[in-house]
Parts: sequence; C-alpha cells; structure tokens
Amino acid sequence: MKRIGLLTSGGDASGMNAAIRAVVRTALYYGMEVYGIRRGYAGLIEDNMDEMDMRSVSNIVHRGGTMLRTARCMEMFTEEGQRKAAETLHRRGIEGLVVIGGDGSFHGAKILSEQYGIPTIGIPGTIDNDLAYTDYTLGFDTAVNTCIDAINKLRDTMESHERISVVEVMGRRCGDIALYAGITSGAEIIIVPEVPYDMDDVVMRIKRSRENGKHSNIIVVAEGVMSAEEFARRLQAVTEYSVRSTNIGHIQRGGSPSMADRMLAAQFGNKAVRLLKDGIGNRVVGIHKNEIIDMDIIEALSMEKKFNYELYETLRMISM
Ligand code: F6P
Repeated sequence: MKRIGLLTSGGDASGMNAAIRAVVRTALYYGMEVYGIRRGYAGLIEDNMDEMDMRSVSNIVHRGGTMLRTARCMEMFTEEGQRKAAETLHRRGIEGLVVIGGDGSFHGAKILSEQYGIPTIGIPGTIDNDLAYTDYTLGFDTAVNTCIDAINKLRDTMESHERISVVEVMGRRCGDIALYAGITSGAEIIIVPEVPYDMDDVVMRIKRSRENGKHSNIIVVAEGVMSAEEFARRLQAVTEYSVRSTNIGHIQRGGSPSMADRMLAAQFGNKAVRLLKDGIGNRVVGIHKNEIIDMDIIEALSMEKKFNYELYETLRMISM
C-alpha cells in the first residue's frame, strides 16, 4: 500500500493529535504517503485534504483537540454520501484509510470497507469509553482526570459550606466516566445509566455519612441519566442539606492528553499503519488486558459494552 488517508470524526478527544502524529510518522517510516483529511467524513465527501509530511505533525503530541478538525457528518449515513466518500478516495489513489473516532465513525469505516472495498482501520477515539471490544478509548483517561480536578475543587467549597455537590459528567449512555471519576475522586455516590437509582437509598447514604462525621458529599451523575441540575432539584426536595449542581461539560473534551492517552495514541496509530502496510483492512485496534489488539470491525461493532459492576460495588463499599 503506497498511499493512505487519515481522518478524525465525531466528538474530539484528547490524544487524537498524538494518534495523528503516530499514524503519519509510521506511514512515512514505511515509505507510504499520507493524506490528512479535514473535518472528518465531511472533508472526505468534499475532497478537503492535503498530503502530510514529517513536520506537519510537529508540536502536536501534547495538544488536545484535533489538528485535522472533526465533524459529525450526517451525509455519511446516506448512500450518496458514502458513494461520494469512496469516489474521493479512488480518485486520489488512496488505497487505505485510518479513521479515528467513536462507534458512529466506525460505522462509516465499515461501509467503506464492506461495500466499496477500501481497507480501513478504526482507532477508538472518544472520551465516552463506550466501545465494547476495547478496555479503553483514546481521550477517556484525560477526560476522567479533568473530572477529578474539577471535583477536587468542588470538594473544597462543598466542605466549607457543608453542602452536597451534584456533578454531571459526559459519556452519552455509558457510565464509565462517572464510574472512574467517582471512584478516583472519592465521590460517595454515582448515578449511571447501567444501574437504576433509588432516591431513598441516596438520601439514606448521605444521612449515614453525616452521622459518621462527614460535612459534605459528592454525587457524580452521568449525563445519560439526567442533568445535574435536575438531580439536584429532586434531591433538594427530600433533604435538609444544601445542594448545588455543576456540569463539567465540554471542558472534559479538551486539554493536554495524559500519559495514558499519549501512550495509547502512539500504539494505536503505529498498529493501524502496520496493519494497512501488510494489506490488512476492515479492522479496529484497541487494548485488552494491557495488550494492543486488532479485531474485525463488524465483530467489534456487534459486541455489547459491559458495565463493570465490581467497580461499582467497590465504590459503594469504600465511599461512605
Ligand atoms: O461522544 C463524546 C461526547 O462528548 C459525549 O460524551 C456527549 O454526549 C457528546 O459528545 C456531546 O456532543 P456535542 O459536542 O456535539 O455537544
């Protein structure tokens, strides 16, 4: 394979730039040409791309966002959009494609592989950690660290005022950001889509913690359940303690990637190009049990994400 394309798609995630760098540098190492496609699939449909060289990816390893920019492209869900995207690749002589994004983005990659015969490799880039086949996605670790930082700050002010802080984190229908941020920031309660919540239980746990000498509480709510504002409103109606809500929002998506995300980016990017170089496509890369893996894209997309109930129970046992 002599020429490949690269795009980032869907919501940006920290570490995407580091992955772009790894893809470009690995491809150049093997003597391949790389075309950086701007604005995700929208740029592919519009033929918005440029050849990248060694220096195009200098000084980006530490930056959040994506230098290629990204978009949620509805046209790529239509047959016409998919055909246009494939035509651009054929016209440009691009023989393989690396897509960095979440499950929606992988869907586009799957169609290009299956229906248009273009070998594609997916790199999981989303803060949500909602892809079943990989233990971690790019950007998740940084997002959780951002949540921890925010919760540390909230803890200071909540403790001073003896309040309850309800903190909303992202994740779509997946509770992983809430679970990991909750455990590692010492939150007493997490509310996630995977486990139905019971307000009486929440109130009881808060009461018990206060009786045990606590002056403040942190509750992390995943956006897939409801907003922090709404949860705080419902809680305030049934507790005498003062409740405040905070939505961390898009701050979770930005910022310099953590060591863990940079390491994943380097390994995912490198692996993706090595697969294409060997003529292998229609796969996604990931990490499982600390090993970099690759898997058939259709198989990966058909897997169901499992929630870590053991971690959830751990939180309930150690946060009181
Ligand atoms: O998929 C990443 C994510 O940040 C989700 O956690 C969130 O629900 C969504 O994107 C927000 O999308 P947008 O940036 O388009 O508002």
